[in-house]
Amino acid sequence: MISVAQRMDSIAPFYVMELLEEAQKLEAAGKKIVHMEVGEPAFSLPQKITEATTAALALGKSGYTSACGLTELREGIVRYYRDNYSVDVSPQRIIVTPGSSGALQLVIAAAVNAGEEVIMPDPTYPCNRHFVLAFGGVPKNIPVGSETGYQLTADDISNAWGEKTKAVMVASPSNPTGTLIEKEELAKIYQVVEERGGLLIVDEIYQKLLYQVEGYSALSVSDNLVVINSFSKYFGMTGLRVGWLVAPEKMIDPLVRLAQNLFISPPTPSQYAALAAIEPECIAFFEQQRQEFARRRDFLYPALLELGFQIPVMPEGAFYIYADCSRFSTDSYRFCHEILQKTGVAITPGKDFGFYKAENHVRFAYTRDMESIVEGVKKLKEYLL
Ligand SMILES: Cc1ncc(COP(=O)(O)O)c(C=O)c1O
Repeated sequence: MISVAQRMDSIAPFYVMELLEEAQKLEAAGKKIVHMEVGEPAFSLPQKITEATTAALALGKSGYTSACGLTELREGIVRYYRDNYSVDVSPQRIIVTPGSSGALQLVIAAAVNAGEEVIMPDPTYPCNRHFVLAFGGVPKNIPVGSETGYQLTADDISNAWGEKTKAVMVASPSNPTGTLIEKEELAKIYQVVEERGGLLIVDEIYQKLLYQVEGYSALSVSDNLVVINSFSKYFGMTGLRVGWLVAPEKMIDPLVRLAQNLFISPPTPSQYAALAAIEPECIAFFEQQRQEFARRRDFLYPALLELGFQIPVMPEGAFYIYADCSRFSTDSYRFCHEILQKTGVAITPGKDFGFYKAENHVRFAYTRDMESIVEGVKKLKEYLL
Protein backbone atom coordinates (compact mmCIF):
# COMPACT_ATOMS: atom_id res chain seq x y z
CA MET A 1 0.00 0.00 0.00
CA ILE A 2 1.48 3.34 -1.03
CA SER A 3 1.15 5.98 1.65
CA VAL A 4 0.79 9.65 0.81
CA ALA A 5 2.77 12.42 2.51
CA GLN A 6 1.66 13.45 5.98
CA ARG A 7 0.96 16.99 4.79
CA MET A 8 -2.03 15.58 2.90
CA ASP A 9 -3.83 15.08 6.23
CA SER A 10 -4.33 18.83 6.45
CA ILE A 11 -5.58 19.38 2.88
CA ALA A 12 -9.39 19.53 3.12
CA PRO A 13 -11.65 18.95 0.12
CA PHE A 14 -13.91 21.61 -1.34
CA TYR A 15 -17.15 20.77 0.48
CA VAL A 16 -19.03 22.60 -2.24
CA MET A 17 -17.93 19.89 -4.71
CA GLU A 18 -19.83 17.31 -2.65
CA LEU A 19 -22.90 19.52 -2.92
CA LEU A 20 -22.34 19.98 -6.63
CA GLU A 21 -22.16 16.21 -7.10
CA GLU A 22 -25.33 15.74 -5.08
CA ALA A 23 -27.00 18.47 -7.16
CA GLN A 24 -25.88 16.80 -10.39
CA LYS A 25 -27.33 13.47 -9.23
CA LEU A 26 -30.65 15.18 -8.49
CA GLU A 27 -30.52 16.85 -11.92
CA ALA A 28 -29.84 13.49 -13.59
CA ALA A 29 -32.94 12.17 -11.77
CA GLY A 30 -34.98 14.99 -13.36
CA LYS A 31 -35.06 17.56 -10.53
CA LYS A 32 -34.56 21.22 -11.46
CA ILE A 33 -31.60 22.69 -9.58
CA VAL A 34 -30.82 26.35 -9.05
CA HIS A 35 -27.04 26.64 -8.86
CA MET A 36 -25.85 29.27 -6.43
CA GLU A 37 -22.92 27.27 -5.10
CA VAL A 38 -19.97 27.53 -7.47
CA GLY A 39 -18.13 30.81 -8.03
CA GLU A 40 -17.92 30.55 -11.79
CA PRO A 41 -19.47 33.16 -14.10
CA ALA A 42 -21.93 31.53 -16.49
CA PHE A 43 -21.85 33.80 -19.57
CA SER A 44 -20.51 32.82 -23.02
CA LEU A 45 -17.32 34.56 -24.08
CA PRO A 46 -17.36 37.21 -26.82
CA GLN A 47 -16.67 35.74 -30.26
CA LYS A 48 -13.53 37.84 -30.55
CA ILE A 49 -11.95 35.75 -27.82
CA THR A 50 -12.81 32.39 -29.36
CA GLU A 51 -11.63 33.66 -32.76
CA ALA A 52 -8.32 34.83 -31.33
CA THR A 53 -7.78 31.45 -29.67
CA THR A 54 -8.54 29.39 -32.77
CA ALA A 55 -6.53 31.77 -34.98
CA ALA A 56 -3.52 31.31 -32.68
CA LEU A 57 -3.87 27.54 -32.92
CA ALA A 58 -4.32 27.71 -36.71
CA LEU A 59 -1.08 29.68 -36.93
CA GLY A 60 0.69 26.94 -35.00
CA LYS A 61 1.00 28.92 -31.77
CA SER A 62 0.65 25.87 -29.58
CA GLY A 63 4.16 25.61 -28.18
CA TYR A 64 5.56 26.92 -24.91
CA THR A 65 5.96 30.65 -24.39
CA SER A 66 8.44 32.25 -22.00
CA ALA A 67 7.72 31.17 -18.40
CA CYS A 68 6.69 34.80 -17.76
CA GLY A 69 4.12 34.73 -20.56
CA LEU A 70 3.85 36.49 -23.92
CA THR A 71 5.53 39.89 -24.06
CA GLU A 72 2.40 41.38 -25.72
CA LEU A 73 0.22 40.11 -22.87
CA ARG A 74 2.54 41.49 -20.18
CA GLU A 75 2.47 44.82 -22.01
CA GLY A 76 -1.32 44.57 -22.23
CA ILE A 77 -1.45 44.10 -18.46
CA VAL A 78 0.76 47.19 -18.04
CA ARG A 79 -1.89 49.13 -20.05
CA TYR A 80 -4.65 47.60 -17.90
CA TYR A 81 -3.08 49.14 -14.77
CA ARG A 82 -2.37 52.45 -16.49
CA ASP A 83 -5.85 52.85 -18.00
CA ASN A 84 -7.88 51.57 -15.05
CA TYR A 85 -5.88 52.60 -12.00
CA SER A 86 -3.34 55.20 -13.25
CA VAL A 87 -0.52 52.98 -11.99
CA ASP A 88 2.73 52.49 -13.90
CA VAL A 89 4.16 48.98 -13.68
CA SER A 90 7.11 47.74 -15.69
CA PRO A 91 6.32 44.58 -17.73
CA GLN A 92 9.32 42.84 -16.11
CA ARG A 93 7.43 42.83 -12.81
CA ILE A 94 4.54 40.84 -14.31
CA ILE A 95 4.45 37.04 -14.54
CA VAL A 96 1.56 35.39 -16.40
CA THR A 97 0.55 32.14 -14.71
CA PRO A 98 -1.81 29.15 -15.13
CA GLY A 99 -4.76 30.84 -13.40
CA SER A 100 -4.20 32.97 -10.34
CA SER A 101 -3.91 29.61 -8.54
CA GLY A 102 -0.53 29.30 -10.27
CA ALA A 103 0.43 32.79 -9.11
CA LEU A 104 -0.58 32.07 -5.50
CA GLN A 105 1.47 28.87 -5.45
CA LEU A 106 4.52 30.62 -6.91
CA VAL A 107 4.52 33.39 -4.38
CA ILE A 108 3.97 31.13 -1.37
CA ALA A 109 6.64 28.67 -2.54
CA ALA A 110 9.11 31.48 -3.22
CA ALA A 111 8.49 33.49 -0.04
CA VAL A 112 7.65 31.15 2.82
CA ASN A 113 10.14 28.86 4.59
CA ALA A 114 8.98 25.64 6.24
CA GLY A 115 7.44 26.46 9.62
CA GLU A 116 6.84 30.14 8.84
CA GLU A 117 3.36 31.58 9.35
CA VAL A 118 1.10 33.27 6.87
CA ILE A 119 -1.66 35.42 8.36
CA MET A 120 -5.01 35.33 6.58
CA PRO A 121 -8.61 36.13 7.54
CA ASP A 122 -11.15 33.49 8.52
CA PRO A 123 -13.39 33.22 6.47
CA THR A 124 -11.25 33.33 3.34
CA TYR A 125 -10.66 31.60 0.01
CA PRO A 126 -9.96 28.02 1.19
CA CYS A 127 -7.08 27.21 -1.17
CA ASN A 128 -4.88 29.88 0.41
CA ARG A 129 -4.51 27.88 3.58
CA HIS A 130 -3.84 24.73 1.56
CA PHE A 131 -1.19 26.41 -0.63
CA VAL A 132 0.63 27.46 2.54
CA LEU A 133 0.37 23.96 4.02
CA ALA A 134 1.48 22.29 0.78
CA PHE A 135 4.73 24.27 0.86
CA GLY A 136 5.41 23.57 4.56
CA GLY A 137 4.17 26.89 5.93
CA VAL A 138 1.65 27.42 8.71
CA PRO A 139 -1.60 29.26 7.97
CA LYS A 140 -2.59 31.59 10.80
CA ASN A 141 -6.33 32.13 10.41
CA ILE A 142 -7.53 35.25 12.18
CA PRO A 143 -11.30 35.41 12.80
CA VAL A 144 -12.95 38.41 11.17
CA GLY A 145 -16.56 39.49 11.61
CA SER A 146 -19.01 42.04 10.32
CA GLU A 147 -17.52 44.79 12.57
CA THR A 148 -14.55 45.04 10.18
CA GLY A 149 -16.46 44.13 7.03
CA TYR A 150 -15.06 40.57 7.30
CA GLN A 151 -11.59 41.94 6.51
CA LEU A 152 -8.37 42.03 8.52
CA THR A 153 -7.39 45.44 9.90
CA ALA A 154 -3.86 46.72 10.43
CA ASP A 155 -4.43 46.29 14.20
CA ASP A 156 -5.51 42.65 13.76
CA ILE A 157 -2.31 41.98 11.83
CA SER A 158 -0.13 43.79 14.29
CA ASN A 159 -1.70 41.80 17.17
CA ALA A 160 -1.37 38.48 15.34
CA TRP A 161 2.23 39.01 14.21
CA GLY A 162 4.64 36.54 15.81
CA GLU A 163 8.30 35.62 15.56
CA LYS A 164 7.60 33.14 12.80
CA THR A 165 5.24 35.28 10.75
CA LYS A 166 6.41 35.85 7.20
CA ALA A 167 3.47 37.02 5.12
CA VAL A 168 -0.12 38.24 5.07
CA MET A 169 -2.71 37.28 2.47
CA VAL A 170 -5.79 39.43 1.93
CA ALA A 171 -8.30 39.74 -0.88
CA SER A 172 -10.37 42.75 -1.89
CA PRO A 173 -13.15 42.14 -2.81
CA SER A 174 -13.16 38.98 -0.73
CA ASN A 175 -14.41 35.51 -1.45
CA PRO A 176 -16.74 34.56 0.31
CA THR A 177 -17.96 37.93 1.60
CA GLY A 178 -17.76 40.31 -1.38
CA THR A 179 -16.46 43.02 0.98
CA LEU A 180 -13.58 45.42 0.39
CA ILE A 181 -10.56 46.82 2.17
CA GLU A 182 -10.52 50.63 2.07
CA LYS A 183 -7.37 52.02 0.49
CA GLU A 184 -6.42 53.89 3.70
CA GLU A 185 -6.65 50.64 5.69
CA LEU A 186 -4.62 48.74 3.11
CA ALA A 187 -1.92 51.43 3.37
CA LYS A 188 -1.87 50.90 7.16
CA ILE A 189 -1.73 47.12 6.67
CA TYR A 190 1.19 47.56 4.30
CA GLN A 191 2.97 49.70 6.88
CA VAL A 192 2.56 47.07 9.61
CA VAL A 193 3.81 44.27 7.34
CA GLU A 194 6.70 46.32 5.92
CA GLU A 195 7.93 47.43 9.36
CA ARG A 196 8.14 43.79 10.37
CA GLY A 197 10.00 42.73 7.24
CA GLY A 198 7.11 40.60 5.95
CA LEU A 199 5.44 40.26 2.58
CA LEU A 200 1.93 41.51 1.82
CA ILE A 201 0.04 39.50 -0.82
CA VAL A 202 -3.12 41.15 -2.13
CA ASP A 203 -5.50 39.03 -4.20
CA GLU A 204 -7.30 41.34 -6.63
CA ILE A 205 -9.00 38.64 -8.69
CA TYR A 206 -12.43 40.31 -8.17
CA GLN A 207 -10.98 43.82 -8.60
CA LYS A 208 -13.12 44.80 -11.60
CA LEU A 209 -16.32 43.34 -10.17
CA LEU A 210 -17.36 46.34 -8.09
CA TYR A 211 -20.84 47.78 -7.80
CA GLN A 212 -21.38 51.49 -7.19
CA VAL A 213 -17.94 51.99 -5.67
CA GLU A 214 -14.62 53.14 -7.11
CA GLY A 215 -11.78 50.64 -7.18
CA TYR A 216 -8.04 50.94 -6.73
CA SER A 217 -5.08 48.62 -7.01
CA ALA A 218 -2.80 47.80 -4.08
CA LEU A 219 0.00 48.75 -6.50
CA SER A 220 -1.00 52.37 -5.89
CA VAL A 221 -0.19 51.82 -2.20
CA SER A 222 3.31 50.39 -2.78
CA ASP A 223 5.54 48.63 -5.32
CA ASN A 224 6.88 46.49 -2.52
CA LEU A 225 4.02 43.99 -2.29
CA VAL A 226 2.64 41.18 -4.45
CA VAL A 227 -0.62 41.55 -6.34
CA ILE A 228 -2.51 38.54 -7.71
CA ASN A 229 -5.04 38.72 -10.54
CA SER A 230 -6.78 36.51 -13.11
CA PHE A 231 -8.77 36.26 -16.31
CA SER A 232 -11.18 33.87 -14.55
CA LYS A 233 -13.82 36.10 -12.96
CA TYR A 234 -14.51 39.54 -14.56
CA PHE A 235 -13.27 38.11 -17.88
CA GLY A 236 -15.19 34.82 -17.37
CA MET A 237 -12.34 32.63 -18.67
CA THR A 238 -12.14 30.13 -15.79
CA GLY A 239 -11.24 27.06 -17.87
CA LEU A 240 -8.63 28.83 -19.98
CA ARG A 241 -6.40 29.09 -16.92
CA VAL A 242 -4.71 32.46 -17.22
CA GLY A 243 -3.81 34.63 -14.27
CA TRP A 244 -0.92 36.89 -13.32
CA LEU A 245 1.07 38.35 -10.50
CA VAL A 246 2.92 41.62 -10.08
CA ALA A 247 5.87 41.37 -7.71
CA PRO A 248 8.62 43.64 -6.39
CA GLU A 249 11.62 43.63 -8.74
CA LYS A 250 13.84 41.75 -6.31
CA MET A 251 11.43 38.80 -6.20
CA ILE A 252 11.15 38.38 -9.97
CA ASP A 253 14.26 36.30 -10.56
CA PRO A 254 13.38 33.57 -7.99
CA LEU A 255 9.72 33.63 -9.09
CA VAL A 256 10.68 33.16 -12.74
CA ARG A 257 13.05 30.28 -11.88
CA LEU A 258 10.25 28.62 -9.98
CA ALA A 259 7.70 29.28 -12.76
CA GLN A 260 10.08 27.66 -15.26
CA ASN A 261 10.30 24.58 -13.06
CA LEU A 262 6.69 24.29 -11.93
CA PHE A 263 4.84 25.25 -15.12
CA ILE A 264 7.39 25.80 -17.96
CA SER A 265 4.83 28.17 -19.49
CA PRO A 266 1.26 29.37 -19.02
CA PRO A 267 -1.09 27.84 -21.66
CA THR A 268 -0.29 29.50 -24.99
CA PRO A 269 -3.68 29.60 -26.82
CA SER A 270 -5.25 30.90 -23.61
CA GLN A 271 -2.78 33.77 -23.54
CA TYR A 272 -3.99 34.81 -27.00
CA ALA A 273 -7.54 34.62 -25.64
CA ALA A 274 -6.46 36.90 -22.77
CA LEU A 275 -4.90 39.37 -25.23
CA ALA A 276 -8.23 39.63 -27.04
CA ALA A 277 -10.11 39.92 -23.74
CA ILE A 278 -8.38 43.19 -22.85
CA GLU A 279 -9.32 44.84 -26.17
CA PRO A 280 -11.94 47.63 -25.82
CA GLU A 281 -14.65 45.67 -27.67
CA CYS A 282 -14.45 42.79 -25.18
CA ILE A 283 -14.16 45.15 -22.20
CA ALA A 284 -17.45 46.77 -23.32
CA PHE A 285 -19.04 43.30 -23.14
CA PHE A 286 -17.56 42.55 -19.69
CA GLU A 287 -18.79 45.90 -18.43
CA GLN A 288 -22.33 44.91 -19.48
CA GLN A 289 -21.88 41.66 -17.55
CA ARG A 290 -20.77 43.66 -14.53
CA GLN A 291 -23.98 45.72 -14.72
CA GLU A 292 -25.88 42.47 -14.85
CA PHE A 293 -24.09 41.19 -11.72
CA ALA A 294 -25.00 44.48 -10.01
CA ARG A 295 -28.66 43.96 -10.93
CA ARG A 296 -28.57 40.43 -9.48
CA ARG A 297 -26.96 41.59 -6.25
CA ASP A 298 -29.51 44.38 -5.92
CA PHE A 299 -32.26 41.79 -6.17
CA LEU A 300 -30.72 39.01 -4.06
CA TYR A 301 -29.42 41.06 -1.12
CA PRO A 302 -32.79 42.47 0.03
CA ALA A 303 -34.56 39.20 -0.90
CA LEU A 304 -32.31 37.19 1.43
CA LEU A 305 -32.77 39.73 4.23
CA GLU A 306 -36.52 39.41 3.80
CA LEU A 307 -36.25 35.62 4.08
CA GLY A 308 -34.54 36.00 7.46
CA PHE A 309 -30.86 35.64 6.59
CA GLN A 310 -28.64 38.20 8.28
CA ILE A 311 -26.17 40.10 6.10
CA PRO A 312 -24.78 42.87 8.27
CA VAL A 313 -22.36 44.24 5.65
CA MET A 314 -23.45 45.14 2.14
CA PRO A 315 -21.27 43.14 -0.28
CA GLU A 316 -19.83 45.70 -2.70
CA GLY A 317 -17.99 43.40 -5.08
CA ALA A 318 -17.32 39.88 -6.44
CA PHE A 319 -20.48 37.81 -6.97
CA TYR A 320 -21.05 36.46 -3.47
CA ILE A 321 -23.27 37.10 -0.48
CA TYR A 322 -22.11 35.64 2.83
CA ALA A 323 -25.18 35.22 4.95
CA ASP A 324 -25.77 34.27 8.57
CA CYS A 325 -28.30 31.43 8.51
CA SER A 326 -28.56 30.89 12.27
CA ARG A 327 -32.25 31.81 12.28
CA PHE A 328 -32.78 28.54 10.38
CA SER A 329 -29.89 26.37 11.49
CA THR A 330 -26.64 26.37 13.44
CA ASP A 331 -25.29 23.54 11.30
CA SER A 332 -24.88 25.24 7.93
CA TYR A 333 -23.39 22.12 6.33
CA ARG A 334 -26.53 20.14 7.11
CA PHE A 335 -28.68 23.11 6.21
CA CYS A 336 -27.12 23.30 2.71
CA HIS A 337 -27.77 19.60 2.11
CA GLU A 338 -31.29 19.92 3.46
CA ILE A 339 -32.29 22.85 1.29
CA LEU A 340 -30.71 21.22 -1.75
CA GLN A 341 -32.82 18.11 -1.20
CA LYS A 342 -36.01 19.98 -0.29
CA THR A 343 -35.88 22.97 -2.64
CA GLY A 344 -33.29 22.20 -5.32
CA VAL A 345 -31.31 25.34 -4.41
CA ALA A 346 -27.57 24.68 -4.12
CA ILE A 347 -25.49 26.99 -1.89
CA THR A 348 -22.11 26.64 -0.17
CA PRO A 349 -21.64 25.92 3.55
CA GLY A 350 -19.47 28.25 5.64
CA LYS A 351 -17.02 25.49 6.48
CA ASP A 352 -15.56 25.72 3.00
CA PHE A 353 -14.07 29.08 3.99
CA GLY A 354 -12.69 28.44 7.46
CA PHE A 355 -13.68 27.73 11.01
CA TYR A 356 -14.91 30.94 12.63
CA LYS A 357 -18.73 30.84 12.94
CA ALA A 358 -18.64 28.68 9.81
CA GLU A 359 -21.59 26.63 11.02
CA ASN A 360 -23.72 29.80 11.13
CA HIS A 361 -22.96 30.93 7.58
CA VAL A 362 -23.62 30.04 3.97
CA ARG A 363 -22.45 31.64 0.72
CA PHE A 364 -24.76 32.49 -2.16
CA ALA A 365 -23.13 33.00 -5.59
CA TYR A 366 -25.13 35.09 -8.09
CA THR A 367 -23.32 33.78 -11.14
CA ARG A 368 -26.38 32.33 -12.91
CA ASP A 369 -29.01 34.34 -14.80
CA MET A 370 -31.59 36.52 -13.07
CA GLU A 371 -34.43 34.14 -13.87
CA SER A 372 -32.71 31.30 -11.98
CA ILE A 373 -31.98 33.58 -9.02
CA VAL A 374 -35.62 34.71 -8.84
CA GLU A 375 -36.68 31.06 -9.02
CA GLY A 376 -34.21 30.12 -6.26
CA VAL A 377 -35.52 32.82 -3.93
CA LYS A 378 -39.10 31.71 -4.61
CA LYS A 379 -38.27 28.12 -3.70
CA LEU A 380 -36.42 29.16 -0.55
CA LYS A 381 -39.40 31.32 0.46
CA GLU A 382 -41.82 28.43 0.02
CA TYR A 383 -39.65 26.19 2.17
CA LEU A 384 -38.36 28.56 4.84
CA LEU A 385 -41.33 30.83 5.52
C1 LIG B 1 -10.12 34.79 -4.06
C2 LIG B 1 -9.74 33.82 -5.14
N1 LIG B 1 -8.44 33.74 -5.51
C3 LIG B 1 -8.04 32.89 -6.46
C4 LIG B 1 -8.93 32.04 -7.10
C5 LIG B 1 -8.41 31.10 -8.16
O1 LIG B 1 -8.89 31.37 -9.42
P1 LIG B 1 -8.15 31.05 -10.80
O2 LIG B 1 -7.06 30.08 -10.52
O3 LIG B 1 -9.21 30.50 -11.69
O4 LIG B 1 -7.60 32.36 -11.30
C6 LIG B 1 -10.29 32.09 -6.76
C7 LIG B 1 -11.27 31.18 -7.39
O5 LIG B 1 -12.40 31.07 -7.03
C8 LIG B 1 -10.70 33.00 -5.75
O6 LIG B 1 -11.98 33.09 -5.36
